Amino acid sequence: MEEKISQIQKEYLEKIGKAQNLKELDVIFLELFGKNGIINALSAEFPKLPKEELPEIGPLFNKIKKELETAIEKKREAIREVGYKKLETEKLVLQGDALQLKKRQGHFHPVTQFEKETIDLFEKLGFIQFEAPHIDTDENNFGLLNIPEGHPARDLWDTLYIDSKLLLRTHTSNGQVRAMRKYGVPLRIMIIDRCFRYENLDARHEHTFEQFELVYIDKGVSMANLQYLSEYFFKALLGQDIQARLRPKYFPFVEPGAGVDSECIFCKGKGCKVCGGIGWLELAGAGMIHPTVLKNGGIDPNIYSGIAWGFGPLRMAMLKYGVEDIRKFLSGDLKFLTK
Ligand code: DAH
Repeated sequence: MEEKISQIQKEYLEKIGKAQNLKELDVIFLELFGKNGIINALSAEFPKLPKEELPEIGPLFNKIKKELETAIEKKREAIREVGYKKLETEKLVLQGDALQLKKRQGHFHPVTQFEKETIDLFEKLGFIQFEAPHIDTDENNFGLLNIPEGHPARDLWDTLYIDSKLLLRTHTSNGQVRAMRKYGVPLRIMIIDRCFRYENLDARHEHTFEQFELVYIDKGVSMANLQYLSEYFFKALLGQDIQARLRPKYFPFVEPGAGVDSECIFCKGKGCKVCGGIGWLELAGAGMIHPTVLKNGGIDPNIYSGIAWGFGPLRMAMLKYGVEDIRKFLSGDLKFLTK
């Protein structure tokens, strides 16, 4: 046994000495100290040894075990040391494309930029930002907006229901009555945030998109305010010469209801491919807030009147930045985002 141990000592000290890298050392370590390694195998033989040999073999075994362990550890350090020295002296030579790497300057997502500009514009007119939940009750998303359960107008929105009462809000209008109840009148709020619909995706439809809701309630507010604010918005964000047009359109929460069109920014009203020859682009739904909705918000429709709109910032950003596919915005494609 004594000879066997000395033999292993000699063989392995030599192996450790010759090891070139950490990987080789790991292999040696496992051969010796692994579960099925030499050391365990040797210990298993101890019970078979004659009793009188044990007092000598035991300490020798322990000594050599320790010696091998220390030798491996020392060698590990020596190998690492060589690596560190190399790092200090070696120069990293950058060639080709690597040399082209410049410091990259980050920036806001194009939609965020667009929305920040929008928020600035309307804060100047005294509108404050308001938030409403993405997951909401159908009461807030539909019921309080004059679209009771079972009303066919609910079909206008391709809704993602979570259960029979909860849904992913289909529009930012879910904040209208909330804001009325929270602040009362006079009221000037805007909600710019995400909405969700079960859409058939294409270049103009995305399941997750932004809306810009604006609510203005006071004594004597009329469609004239809506026309003015639409023009103010278009001139600032799409171009000084861009006109706004209101067209009759049905939404259950407004009376009268309107579609808000901007003059086509590409053909300036003459008619082109983008506007389908019409000369105008539909950018929002809007109107005079329905008396029932005002009442739901605790506001007397005989004294106060209000306008509201819901714009599609993504569609507007598509026009402003010449983006042909709405799905690009959520794609996270750096080529698109840094263009
Ligand atoms: N919420 C409507 C939609 O998503 C858009 C809209 C229409 C908002 C009329 C309004 C409004 O505030 O008055 O289609």
